[in-house]
Amino acid sequence: MRRRVILIASLTLVAVLVATFAFLAKADEPTEEDIERWTEEYMKVKDEGRELWGSPELGTNGVSCGQCHPNAANTHPETYPKFQQQLGEVVELRTMINWCIQNPLEGEHLELDSEEMIALEAYIAWERRGVELAPGKH
Ligand code: HEC
Repeated sequence: MRRRVILIASLTLVAVLVATFAFLAKADEPTEEDIERWTEEYMKVKDEGRELWGSPELGTNGVSCGQCHPNAANTHPETYPKFQQQLGEVVELRTMINWCIQNPLEGEHLELDSEEMIALEAYIAWERRGVELAPGKH
């Protein structure tokens, strides 16, 4: 009799735990509206990046990123972090973005967590979507 009570109590406990985990796992799943909103937010930031790409406002000499990298061509975000000859060490994509702002555009470097930097990265990554990651590749 006592054994049966212990067995039933144990089974009940297991059932409650399984139900709780199932509930928590489901609570983490995004809804369609979540995904729509998150995608919309991303697209907004990416479009800001595209605007900046074609504008001379990041520099001081009237040059824009798009003049040398039309549609973000030859920016290879999928290869970062990697060794960059110009800097002599392994760097992140944003470091190279700043290198181009400071050199070809003769501008002030951006703060790494600035809205503009995030927008530029979002745009560059968008143009290379689907390309396999290849960190360190030359
Ligand atoms: C006058 C031409 C010119 C302009 C304008 C220019 N770049 Fe570049 N960019 C270069 C050159 C040259 C390199 C070096 C090529 C290399 O190392 O692969 C480069 C490299 C890069 C890379 C790394 C590419 C790689 O393959 O690793 C990124 C990212 C980049 N530029 C972003 C930008 C951004 C962002 C802007 C605008 C703020 C910009 N560039 C404007 C000429 C330019």
